[in-house]
Amino acid sequence: MKRSISIFFIFSATLFGIFSSTEYFRDNLSQISFIISFVIGFYFLYEYLRNIFLASKIVAHHHNSTRLSFIAKYAFSFLGCIDLLVCIPLFILLVNGDIPYWVLFLYTLSLLKLPRYIQGLAMIGNVIYVERRNLLATLMSLIILLVIFSSLLFAVENYAQPEVFKSIPHAMWWGITTLTTVGYGDMVPITLLGRTIAASTMLIGIAMVAIPAGIIASGFIDEMRNEAILSTWKSVRSFPLFKELNSEKISEIASVLKSQVIPSGVTIFEKGSFSDSMYFIVEGEVAVIVEPDPVLLTKGAFFGEIGLLEVAPRSATVITTKKTNFLVLTMHDFHQISDRHPDILNQIRHVASQRNINK
Ligand code: CMP
Repeated sequence: MKRSISIFFIFSATLFGIFSSTEYFRDNLSQISFIISFVIGFYFLYEYLRNIFLASKIVAHHHNSTRLSFIAKYAFSFLGCIDLLVCIPLFILLVNGDIPYWVLFLYTLSLLKLPRYIQGLAMIGNVIYVERRNLLATLMSLIILLVIFSSLLFAVENYAQPEVFKSIPHAMWWGITTLTTVGYGDMVPITLLGRTIAASTMLIGIAMVAIPAGIIASGFIDEMRNEAILSTWKSVRSFPLFKELNSEKISEIASVLKSQVIPSGVTIFEKGSFSDSMYFIVEGEVAVIVEPDPVLLTKGAFFGEIGLLEVAPRSATVITTKKTNFLVLTMHDFHQISDRHPDILNQIRHVASQRNINK
């Protein structure tokens, strides 16, 4: 709820910041704009003060740091500065009783608070942070190319167009727009050599500018894989079968389990079919078709173990009755885990023997 209110205020503040810059808004809605600035400003101030209060609370868990150091850490962090910046319109309003309309652009900066509430956005920030060295290396290469090509073009074109390519910094403007393939066309080489250099700059620009996109894309895939591993880890930990294990052993088991989501009404396997894996239910429900009535298995349960233990075909058909999320353990990994964790094997055997009795 708190999260939704914050997101609501961020979007409202941004829209308000954008529209308050229009002439219509300035001329016609000054009274309303005054009230809106007030409400939004107070909410952001409340958030800022609350974050400072929360930062001061962390000290209870870190005895060797002072309360002030935690408050300063928050206040000087990027998000802390943004939290304060978006309060500035309110401060001006309170001091002046009025607000210059251009100051309201600060409300659009509240969009930078969003990653706190939307996980996908935080992921982009993470990827950029993790890949910072590679991204910096690409940026450095771009700067080197920029300096070299701009200097070359200045040397070649200055003679032909002294008014356009006045200096290397002027030529660098051309270099930036060409390397990034924007090409404003306000500075164009006219000599043959100048055009040859420009053509090379464009081709290298296409290749160089694509590299950061590739780095970020691959960083994203790694990040998503890490998220998946973490969520599998959490699921494994929640199973009663694994509750006695320490984190290291949970990680070992999580690394061999594959997540699978199956819609409702799908037959996972038929009675008599080959037994190649067992399944742990993370979310959802399945029906094991046994006589006299089907048995329903839900979150935390497992099935498919009898076939693996007895190296025999499936003893029953299993169908999903809801959209179900499983972790699947293949026969090969089942035997490896059984060898390393006899206690888990015994528990599985115990459940299987109960089921065999009930059959
Ligand atoms: P398996 O024989 O490999 O395939 C069918 C699965 O259904 C079986 O392993 C058990 O995991 C499960 N199963 C069989 N009988 C019962 C039962 N009576 N209650 C719950 N699950 C069962």
